[in-house]
Amino acid sequence: MLGCRRESGPSKGATPSSGPTERAGSASPSPEEEKDLIVIDLTPYQEQLGRPGAGITVQPREDLPLLIVRTERGHLRAFINVCTHAVCPLLPDPERRRILCDPQCGHGAEFSLSGEVLVGPATRRLFQFLARESPDRTRLIVDLSMPL
Ligand code: FES
Repeated sequence: MLGCRRESGPSKGATPSSGPTERAGSASPSPEEEKDLIVIDLTPYQEQLGRPGAGITVQPREDLPLLIVRTERGHLRAFINVCTHAVCPLLPDPERRRILCDPQCGHGAEFSLSGEVLVGPATRRLFQFLARESPDRTRLIVDLSMPL
């Protein structure tokens, strides 16, 4: 079993202080707005993220592990890559179109592609941020100021 620990939510440390940033739209962002946006280059993952249920794990910042998953409707969601039961990492299961708590954890929680608990022992949905894929599907803009 991994060294998981029980935790109830994302840490306050999830607010970025550095890293790649981008502002969507034409208005000039304030420094506060700018630092809340993280841009993930999807170019290396085009094939991996091509179908519903597929996912990747990325870590745009040391304190920000993310699981990016494509939904049934073809949108991308950005979850914090920790299970809400005891903070083990998550894995996409494209065949079953689910998100799994890492089997090495030994607890067995499963989540829908929208983050809802399907199988316990987790009782809370996954933590996620508002995310928007660029029209050409090469970038994902994650807004850390918008937890969902
Ligand atoms: S950490 Fe226990 S089910 Fe995920």
